[in-house]
Amino acid sequence: MARRKYVVGNWKMNGLSDAVAEARAIFVAADDHPAVDVAICPPFTLIGPMAVAAPGKAIGGQDCHSAASGAFTGSVAAPMLADIGASLVIVGHSERREGFGESDADVRAKAEAGLAAGLSVILCVGEPREVRESGGAIDYVLAQVADSVPGEFDPARLAIAYEPIWAIGTGLVPTVADVAAMHGAIRGALAARFGGAAEEMRILYGGSVNGDNAAELLGAGDVDGALVGGASLTAAKFVPIIGAGASLH
Ligand code: PGA
Repeated sequence: MARRKYVVGNWKMNGLSDAVAEARAIFVAADDHPAVDVAICPPFTLIGPMAVAAPGKAIGGQDCHSAASGAFTGSVAAPMLADIGASLVIVGHSERREGFGESDADVRAKAEAGLAAGLSVILCVGEPREVRESGGAIDYVLAQVADSVPGEFDPARLAIAYEPIWAIGTGLVPTVADVAAMHGAIRGALAARFGGAAEEMRILYGGSVNGDNAAELLGAGDVDGALVGGASLTAAKFVPIIGAGASLH
């Protein structure tokens, strides 16, 4: 089946109130490319204001707690994201796995919480540099997929983002052949586990995607979109990536 391209901005811990106007500008420009699904995941503090400024647009969290509520000081639950207008959530980003010690089991529980709250989920996986250099990247990532992807869900609501850790924010990107090989391996593992439903699940590439390399990366086999950090913060940088996705339809 034809999967729609999906281009998602991960703003990380960037953006004050005045950034809402930039998000609005991105969504307005994205309307010129209706074949591409576009989402922005700003810091928690901007989700509500962005949902007001860009009604009906896909806005998401960058993390959520696995519980729906409770004594978890400082955390935000998936139903809270849905309540202020989010329609998706990123879970398992390497900056959470590495910086906050999140295990595959934690990531799976967060994905389940997001799905239960009615959100779409982008579940991140990716290998560190030494694993890539030792030749073990595919095995490493498939183990993350096996242990962090939930068992039952609507396949259209769960996307995997393959983000090699060494490519995030570094300007380094894997070869297109390596990206295609990894995405093909992930698709194969999903098909072995979920059968035909795997065809509906989108697999995004993330790590130093920009306007110059997006067309090549998005055109690689089994790449259904991009999760973009630094180059998603401004319309000037992000809209060309959306345009690259549109040109592949
Ligand atoms: P980057 O980040 O595009 O700045 O490399 C990607 C990500 O961490 O999702």
